Amino acid sequence: MMEKSPNPASNQRFSRGAHTHDSQPIANGIPAAPKRKWTNFMPLFVILVVVAEIAFLGRLDMAKNAALVDSWADVFHRSHPGGELPLTDDDFPVAVEVADRSSGSETESCEEWLEKQDAVVYSRDFGKEPILISGHEEEWKTCAVGCKFGFGSDRKPDGQIGLHGQAGTATILRSMESSQYYAENNIAQARRRGIDVVMTTSLSSDVPVGYFSWAEYDIMAPVQPKTENAVAAAFISNCGARNFRLQALEALEKTQIKIDSYGGCHRNRDGRVNKVEALKHYKFSLAFENSNEEDYVTEKYFQSLVAGSVPVVIGAPNIEDFAPAPGSYLHIKELKDVPEVAKTMKYLSENPVAYNQSLRWKYEGPSDSFKALVDMAAVHSSCRLCIHLATTIRQKEEKSPGFKNRPCKCTRGSETVYHLL
Ligand SMILES: *[C@@H]1O[C@H](CO)[C@@H](O)[C@H](O)[C@H]1NC(C)=O
Repeated sequence: MMEKSPNPASNQRFSRGAHTHDSQPIANGIPAAPKRKWTNFMPLFVILVVVAEIAFLGRLDMAKNAALVDSWADVFHRSHPGGELPLTDDDFPVAVEVADRSSGSETESCEEWLEKQDAVVYSRDFGKEPILISGHEEEWKTCAVGCKFGFGSDRKPDGQIGLHGQAGTATILRSMESSQYYAENNIAQARRRGIDVVMTTSLSSDVPVGYFSWAEYDIMAPVQPKTENAVAAAFISNCGARNFRLQALEALEKTQIKIDSYGGCHRNRDGRVNKVEALKHYKFSLAFENSNEEDYVTEKYFQSLVAGSVPVVIGAPNIEDFAPAPGSYLHIKELKDVPEVAKTMKYLSENPVAYNQSLRWKYEGPSDSFKALVDMAAVHSSCRLCIHLATTIRQKEEKSPGFKNRPCKCTRGSETVYHLL
């Protein structure tokens, strides 16, 4: 713990008194007194000690003082109980030197000490030995941890997509389908089947895979003039669905709201168009999902946002969590909501100022929660999978003694520094 001193012997003798500093003895004006008897020296020594202590008291806070004065007393009384002290000329300057420097912070700070104690090295360097995922081919350029996808490595993979892996390999389920169509995507069911890492659209899954991303969608693309005659456009490829979207479409059509349908379901327009480009010229877009499932929000919705065509949603009951701003979408929660929603659509389509309010976020920017949601996709789900597995490996290792015994606080004098692991 102590730094080197050019005079270790003298330093050692005063080690209790001088233990807080890197004393370098210097002779400053103390007269040379070779080979004198300790008893002859006594009065002068006592005076010096008293002077030194006064210096201490003047410079140090009381808490630090108590400890140092105690150790001074130890040096004086315990080490040399009346015997002859082999003092050298240098000894006194050392004592004075302690008094001079103790007010500084010459010891290693608590922060530095904790940092050193904390520097336990993990056994695996993911840069050299990347996370290996089998069962899927993918090329990786950048990820915060080493991350490799592919088949046929001689190393045992850390995770495997699909089939059950060998012992010690995490089994991964990855799907963007709703669990109403694919029951195996239900998180609880997946766990019962022994899936270690669930990757679905559910934001509660281990590694959520969403349809949203800044890279994929030009979400802030400018609003275009609404040149189409029809109020809304629909791209619904399949009339069959496990929710009421077909009935809702039919009910909406009956309310005199003009709908252009480009998809296979109730088609009245040629479907060979660029969907987003086409949507830009409609005030509303029917974003009807095939199932009403929490967090299940697909490209139908995000493409509507890109196009600046107000989405009329049938789907996730919590679609509000995916809204770029309040009032930026319409929600048909149940079939009986159709007349009310149709009324709103009619009103907005006839009142440009009110309609423009629903697209305000396009001019003023989306909400923070929306930005946070889409930011998640800034890191690709495959990279997030690797980070998840690497974190799991680290957490396991942190349960070992080398990590568990790291100190969580440090005390220096009256000051205590806590460290959160
Ligand atoms: C809609 O509002 C924005 C400002 O919020 C404005 O810049 C834009 O011109 C408005 N558009 C129409 C068609 O009124």
